[in-house]
Amino acid sequence: MLKVQGLRAGYGGPPVLHGVDIEVGAGEAVAVVGANGAGKTALVRAISGLLKAVDGRILKDGSDITAVPGHRRSEHGIAVVLENRNLFTELSVIDNLRLAESAGRRARHDKARFSLDEVCTLFPLVGERRHAPVGVLSGGQQQMVAIARALLLQPELLIMDELTTGLAPKIVKEILGVLNQLRARGMSILLVEQSIAIAAEMTERAYVLSVGRVIHEVRRGEWPAMLADKTLVKAYLHG
Ligand SMILES: Nc1ncnc2c1ncn2[C@@H]1O[C@H](COP(=O)(O)OP(=O)(O)O)[C@@H](O)[C@H]1O
Ligand SMILES: [Mg+2]
Repeated sequence: MLKVQGLRAGYGGPPVLHGVDIEVGAGEAVAVVGANGAGKTALVRAISGLLKAVDGRILKDGSDITAVPGHRRSEHGIAVVLENRNLFTELSVIDNLRLAESAGRRARHDKARFSLDEVCTLFPLVGERRHAPVGVLSGGQQQMVAIARALLLQPELLIMDELTTGLAPKIVKEILGVLNQLRARGMSILLVEQSIAIAAEMTERAYVLSVGRVIHEVRRGEWPAMLADKTLVKAYLHG
């Protein structure tokens, strides 16, 4: 599905990613964890085409998409929910969704497509507030709109940056419930998470990023051992 090889990228100055290799298999959920400033968002933005790769390659199903601009990556089955969500706050919920819906028509695959009605069923709150300007919604509701919008781009791979940070536990639970439904439908997921507990609950594997490098991989089935070793958790996430 997704292969990132030797990726170097930054925010215009010196690179903040120093040769990152990660992979997400078809239907797999993978986490990226790491301390603040590790470069998680830079990685998300580079995979989404919002930061230019200085070196390395990004492959989607074997084709090199490194040079594909951000606004065309949804055509390659990649959608992202950014940390700051990037919604049009003056527009209504439904208008935000419609913009994505029309962009999503250009998606090149036809499995597991989402309609406007379906995303409103997945997130009833989004449906109820469909005529409200996004700016008046709570952070949690806005996050749901951001996920709904990403789904309307008809992705095969959904990337989410700090999805649950700062949200009320009830909302987090609701959002994670939807992610589980997406996983059951075969969606591939790349989840950037501050909460190692959520990463462990929602994914099979994780990469630990530190100062722009993958310094550890939590392999399939290794989550319980990783979580049990508090020193390890502390070292990787706060070291
Ligand atoms: N807009 C920006 N311009 C320049 N440097 C940035 C910008 N955003 C983040 N950085 C720097 O890039 C590094 C990685 O940051 P970031 O990708 O946001 O990490 P994380 O998401 O893991 O917290 C940090 O050193 C941070 O200070
Ligand atoms: Mg970040």
